[in-house]
Amino acid sequence: MVAGRIPQGFIQELLVRVDIVSLIDSLVPLKKAGSNFVARCPFHAEKTPSFSVNQKKQFYHCFGCSVSGNAIGFLIAFKHLGFVEAIEELADFAGMDIPREASADNTGLSKSELSRLFQVMEQVANFYVKQLRSSDHGKKGVAYLKQRGIEGVIAQDFLLGYAPENWRILLDQFEQHELVQVGLLGINDKGDYYARFRNRVMFPIRDKRSRIVGFGGRVLDDALPKYLNSPDTVLFHKSREIYGLHEVIKANARPLRILVVEGYMDVLALHQLGLTYSVATLGTAISQSHVELLFRFSPELVFCFDGDNAGRAAAWKALSVVIPLLKDGRVVRFMTLPQQHDPDSLVRDEGAERFVDRMVYAPIFSDYFFAHYENDLKATEIEIRSRAIKEVRAYLAQLPLGAFRDEMFERLSGFIKRQVVDSDSDLAYQSQQKTYRRKSPRPSLPSLVMAMLLQNPWLIDIVEQKELDLEQLEFEGVDKFISILQVITEYKPANCGLLTEIFRGHADQAIIDKLVSLDLLIPEDGVEVEFGDALDKLLVMARAVSTDRLLVRAREKELTPEEKKRLLQMLADK
Ligand code: GTP
Ligand code: MN
Repeated sequence: MVAGRIPQGFIQELLVRVDIVSLIDSLVPLKKAGSNFVARCPFHAEKTPSFSVNQKKQFYHCFGCSVSGNAIGFLIAFKHLGFVEAIEELADFAGMDIPREASADNTGLSKSELSRLFQVMEQVANFYVKQLRSSDHGKKGVAYLKQRGIEGVIAQDFLLGYAPENWRILLDQFEQHELVQVGLLGINDKGDYYARFRNRVMFPIRDKRSRIVGFGGRVLDDALPKYLNSPDTVLFHKSREIYGLHEVIKANARPLRILVVEGYMDVLALHQLGLTYSVATLGTAISQSHVELLFRFSPELVFCFDGDNAGRAAAWKALSVVIPLLKDGRVVRFMTLPQQHDPDSLVRDEGAERFVDRMVYAPIFSDYFFAHYENDLKATEIEIRSRAIKEVRAYLAQLPLGAFRDEMFERLSGFIKRQVVDSDSDLAYQSQQKTYRRKSPRPSLPSLVMAMLLQNPWLIDIVEQKELDLEQLEFEGVDKFISILQVITEYKPANCGLLTEIFRGHADQAIIDKLVSLDLLIPEDGVEVEFGDALDKLLVMARAVSTDRLLVRAREKELTPEEKKRLLQMLADK
């Protein structure tokens, strides 16, 4: 992820210092109800509260929409933050400093130096606005924007400005080295400073936390280059930022969908005509970090492309970028524009309503994907068919495990009229499904024991008292059971919130999350006894399984002396 890791020790300490109840209460007022705190769930619409926060576990869970997590998870979900950003927020909340040498951004700048640079950007943007509004040169900019049909409110909302020819006036207000650091001044071969943006209409680029991180600038005529962007700086990473996202979130924190177009001017036109959920990449192809960022705000992304060959190629490129990110519940559509149009010209030409129709009915990922392969999959020549099957399988294999992936494989099977086996799904997904499906009937005994332990990690003391011989445990899923047990033994997390943090990004995270949110219906003061009983039962069961296996093996071939000894021992214990 981000270079420069935050030490796990710090994260654990942070979670110890912050009380999840006061954190969530500061954002979503909570009411005490029994041993929990409750509220109407901030993640789905409901009339009666099913969102509950458990202080002892340092964990939240919604029984309605089954979201759950610790304090960090809450900030990520509630404020649409990345992991590192959530840590930063939480550290602020707790009044703790993230250890310097491992600071997330790795810029080598202190927090105050960075916030000074953000301040410079904000002030420069306002300076450009003033130039646009009230300087003689700025009039050219205003005229240009008018001619492009940009209204005053939009110019205001997007903080459009004008970079004057005479850039030296910037130096009256800002330190030269700061302007260099934020990418507004460059140094040429002769060692002279020059301003990157001159005589251009300026588009400030904000990150999703609404800080100005860079600028785009457009010439007013046919001069080249038509657009310039800030270079990558400590504040700005072109491949990660998205133009218009800040304005989208301002209009609606959870838009139904986000429309992704190519140009700055397209974004402005679309917002002006009411499509306030439109964004653009900054002249680069869409990347996985763009897509992940956008999916944090909306479950549906519509990618808009030109109707020419280049547009089709770009669409397919986008398709291959999003495939690995298509978890269940995420929707992607591909909208193709008529020839000779870009979104700006089209939406102005035919109006917002028709444009929205095109968008809503744009082919959804699965149809778009199979339409591409349909002819080949139905070809009579087996060479062509098999090549297509191979390609399709290679793409589908990149889908995350889940129902969508299964359905896509089903659809492939339908095309070629025979079953296509998704080997990964057989192994991993179905075993996951087993754990999930056991949710409403009573979970299996090992799952139950594991769930109790995960929810109350202090129970590890009881496990240790029993002095289990892990190598002799045998039941379905025992490897996972043991590896989780070892993690808990090693870290000894004090509560569930701390424990889930250890498993963040871990291969077993999905399973852990499920078990942690399992409603065990055990009163808090009964946990210890119930757990002891369940653990004893599990040991008896494991021993029975193990004995049976040895007995079966004994019938097939001679047991090793060790196995014999073990078998005798177990039969004696029975
Ligand atoms: P207008 O001509 O103003 O309508 O531009 P547009 O927004 O329709 O842009 P276009 O479709 O030509 O390009 C899409 C995007 O690619 C722009 O918004 C820029 O982000 C980027 N882009 C276009 N031309 C250039 C260029 O010359 N240099 C750079 N760095 N980026 C460009
Ligand atoms: Mn255009």
